[in-house]
Formats: sequence, C-alpha cells, structure tokens
Amino acid sequence: MHVLVLGGTRFVGRAVTDQALAAGAEVTLFNRGQTAPELYPDLETVVGDRTVDLSALAGRRFDLVVDCAGYFPDVVARSASALRDAVDRYVFVSSVSVYADQSVPPHEGAALLRDDSYGGRKAACERVVLDHYGDRALVGRPGLIVGPHDQTERFSYWPRRFTRSGPILAPGDPTDPMQWIDVRDLAAFLVGATPSGVFNVVAPPVPMADLLDACAAAAGSDQEVVWMSTAELLAAGVDPWMGVPLWIGDPQWSAANLVDGSRARAAGLTTRPVGETVADVLAWDTGRGGPVEEPLSTDDEKRLLAAH
Ligand SMILES: NC(=O)c1ccc[n+]([C@@H]2O[C@H](COP(=O)([O-])OP(=O)(O)OC[C@H]3O[C@@H](n4cnc5c(N)ncnc54)[C@H](OP(=O)(O)O)[C@@H]3O)[C@@H](O)[C@H]2O)c1
Repeated sequence: MHVLVLGGTRFVGRAVTDQALAAGAEVTLFNRGQTAPELYPDLETVVGDRTVDLSALAGRRFDLVVDCAGYFPDVVARSASALRDAVDRYVFVSSVSVYADQSVPPHEGAALLRDDSYGGRKAACERVVLDHYGDRALVGRPGLIVGPHDQTERFSYWPRRFTRSGPILAPGDPTDPMQWIDVRDLAAFLVGATPSGVFNVVAPPVPMADLLDACAAAAGSDQEVVWMSTAELLAAGVDPWMGVPLWIGDPQWSAANLVDGSRARAAGLTTRPVGETVADVLAWDTGRGGPVEEPLSTDDEKRLLAAH
C-alpha cells in the first residue's frame, strides 16, 4: 500500500505516518518542509504549499491519502480535486466540533454547524471531501486527541502535575465523564481496514477520578487531591472552557465528553487503556525536557485552593 500523507510532521499526521509505516506501507509526505523537516529522513517528502499549488503531485498514484490538517473548505477542495484520479481513498481528519448542539451526546447523523467557526469550517471541509469521493471517503471526527507529541498541554498537565508537590486541585465531580482519543488509536483506525463513511472517533468516557488515579499511579504519587465543584470554580471566575485543563463548566458543552463512538467501534476502532495513554504521555513529557507553560499555573492553583 502506498499512502500519501498531507501534513505528517506535527502530531496527528506524525502518528498516521508512524502507523502506516508500522503496517508495512510505503509513505510519501506532502508539506512545506517547515515543521520538523528532520523527522523522516528516509521518507519521500514532496514539498509544496497546499493553499497554493499541489502540482508537484501531478501524475502520481497512491492507494490512500490521509488529509491530516485541513481547516478551510477552499484549501481542502484544492487537494480533493487535484487527487481525485490519483488516489483510491481520501481520509479526512475532521472533529467532533462539527456538531451544532454539544449539549446532547452527538451521533454521526446530528445537525452540523454551518457558520464560520472552526467546527463550521471543518463541516464544510467534510462536505467537500464527501462530494468529491462519495463512498471512497472516510471522514473521522475525533474528540480531544491526546498522546505523545500533543503540544497543547491540556492532557499532559495531569500526569505532570502529579510529579510536582502540593495538594492537587481536581475540577468538578469525581464522576464527571472525560473523553478523548489516543492519537495512536485514531491513526490505526484511519489507515486500517476501516469502511468508508463518517465516524466519531472517541474512546468511551471515563470518570475524572479514574484519570487522576491513573496519573497518580504513573507518577508514583500519593499526594492529596482536592475536588472543587463546578459551581465553586465558576464562582471563582475560572474560564468555563478548560480554565482548569480538561474541565468544561459551560452547560452548552455538557455532552462534549459523551460523544457516541459505537459506530467506529463496530467498524474496528480499538482504544487502549487509560493507564497506557497516561504512562506514555508522562514518559514523553519527561523526555522532552525544558520548561512548559502550564495551562493552570501553580500560583492560580494555590489561589483557588486557598479560596476552597
Ligand atoms: N488536537 C485536538 O484535540 C483535535 C481534536 C479534533 C480534531 N483535530 C484535528 O486534528 C488535526 C491536527 O493536525 P496536526 O497539526 O496534528 O497534523 P500534522 O499533519 O501532524 O501536522 C500539520 C502538517 O501540515 C503541514 N502543513 C501546514 N500548512 C501547510 C500548507 N499550507 N501546505 C502543506 N502542508 C502544510 C505541516 O508541515 P509544514 O509546516 O512543513 O508545511 C505539518 O506537517 C487537525 O485536522 C485538527 O482539526 C484536533
């Protein structure tokens, strides 16, 4: 199998590339050669800017293209059109942010945004891919994507926090559902023998307390965990959208961690245990070295705990 990866050198595309290589595929990357160009010295990289010109791919043929980081429908239209006769299948990495109503658990048939937001544009990109490729298209809608090389710090904050001293602020209720997809499980689904169609790509939700237990275990920590309720955090002026990492205090987003992933599971999605993701993220985080700008600073955490 010859896989073309549009992107491939930051986070999702990197996992897709690694997965395709592990599966024995030949991989060609298409990007501008700006992001981590040293990553895959043995792979062919076709250099180009997808917003302008994909002619460097003219005349090429691939079994599969994985479009890892398409954000604008006109840009996705450019690649979808340029590759229409060059690939058998077009895989597009979308997002659960496409759903118009995040207050009820979204399933694949739910209404989509049609505005100019990130989610609305991703939904428009999906339409472009589906219009061009029909039943040759696979649209994956991941939830929060986590794992090694995730630079957003939303997830890595938690295992890392358990390596620091002092009482740990835990947001909301211990039973609050948390949901994500490990980037490696996402990649396996996207380049595996997945049927065509549109799929939410998420792991089953787990209680926040289970995530924190896994973090404590990975870090070998027995530090005190102090739960602050959503009402308390909101009263303290904390930003309801991840003012504390992973916590969502906005009722309009109450089902953001309850996405229905059953369709993908039936189509072959498997998800690794929480403890494995946490341990691998902590190992990656420890290994990368250097200071990290914490999404919740030590001072802010202390201030909130003092008001508890
Ligand atoms: N993080 C989350 O929780 C989350 C949740 C749901 C969905 N998503 C989706 O996950 C994806 C994340 O993508 P990623 O950044 O990790 O993908 P990636 O493929 O690992 O990295 C982005 C790639 O795009 C290339 N690129 C950027 N601009 C380009 C251009 N104009 N022309 C050609 N190549 C270009 C970059 O290389 P160069 O800079 O060298 O060109 C880089 O290789 C997105 O589709 C996002 O919507 C994320």
